[in-house]
Amino acid sequence: MSGLIQPKQDAWDGGPRPLFLAPMSGVTDLPYRLLAKECGADVTITEFTNSTALTREAATSWRRMETHASEVPFIPQIFGGDPGDMATAAEMLAPTADIIDLNFGCPAPKVTNICAGAALMGEPDRLVNMVESIVERVDVPVTAKMRLGTGKGANNATDICQRLEQVGAQRLCIHGRTLRQRYSGEADWTSIREAVQAVDVPVVANGDVVDAASASACLKHTGASGLMVGRGAIGRPTVFSDIKVGLGWMELDALPWVARHEDWHGLNEVEQSFAARKWCWDRYIALSEATVGIQGKWMQRHAIAFTKGLPGAKRVRTLMHEQDTDKAMANAISTFLAR
Ligand SMILES: Cc1cc2nc3c(=O)[nH]c(=O)nc-3n(C[C@H](O)[C@H](O)[C@H](O)COP(=O)(O)O)c2cc1C
Repeated sequence: MSGLIQPKQDAWDGGPRPLFLAPMSGVTDLPYRLLAKECGADVTITEFTNSTALTREAATSWRRMETHASEVPFIPQIFGGDPGDMATAAEMLAPTADIIDLNFGCPAPKVTNICAGAALMGEPDRLVNMVESIVERVDVPVTAKMRLGTGKGANNATDICQRLEQVGAQRLCIHGRTLRQRYSGEADWTSIREAVQAVDVPVVANGDVVDAASASACLKHTGASGLMVGRGAIGRPTVFSDIKVGLGWMELDALPWVARHEDWHGLNEVEQSFAARKWCWDRYIALSEATVGIQGKWMQRHAIAFTKGLPGAKRVRTLMHEQDTDKAMANAISTFLAR
């Protein structure tokens, strides 16, 4: 097993387990992943990227595969329905990747229509053969992220996990919903536990973890070797430190947005939200400038997410439209959060 992948852990005893920022298309760009790490995420993964586009050297797809020296481990995630293109893309990524993650969870029709993403859960032999050939062709660890099944017939995540372990996948992540469910209903942690108990490789639990209480409940229920947070981390990268502080894995005073305020405990909840989000926003912009430059589209999406739920947030779109440049937009959001 790779040194970058911790071995499977037993039933949860309350101690720290790695927290993963879920790969999210349109959300987890490079500066956001670096920010999430500064906010307590232990592992980050790129947005999923089409393996066929990578083999054709598509510039926009390769753009999503950018990393930075401080992103360790660097884990690009790829999807595709063509096993040859998946293996070729993995080979192209292997020289820069620490780990390669394969997507068997995406429910979007444009992905499932090419028998990729979660549709492959309905073609288990094809899925397993695909993983096996990638493991054979690259010398970096290969991991996979999947759903419980397609939702047609019995769920097969446990069976697929056992088969993937046999062909050399080194870590598995399960989102506790089926393809048919997409994002509806509650994540089924009991089915994740079944898979955790059936294999010797680490399994990461994903679905509906949004704070310390749900993180603790999910670890107790599943015994998973790590937790992955998706929607709970959109606009709220501090969810990782919230979990760590809430579970006693780190001290509140160690958080940079807390440490910079002499009287953090004298601030009310809204003031604390503004202060934490301002710190995060300024870091997002600084990390963008230090890596890929400020990307207008990415920044605008994050601005909406970072300010969601705060008093006055309705003005944010107008505020952005009033600015002439990306930098002016970044500054306007920073000023809004500085209230
Ligand atoms: C906007 C968005 C984009 C997503 N993109 C990806 C992706 O690129 N790759 C992937 O494996 N999962 C993707 N997912 C699924 C998440 O990684 C995660 O499995 C799912 O949101 C369930 O976790 P949660 O309940 O913590 O949100 C995406 C989810 C959302 C909401």
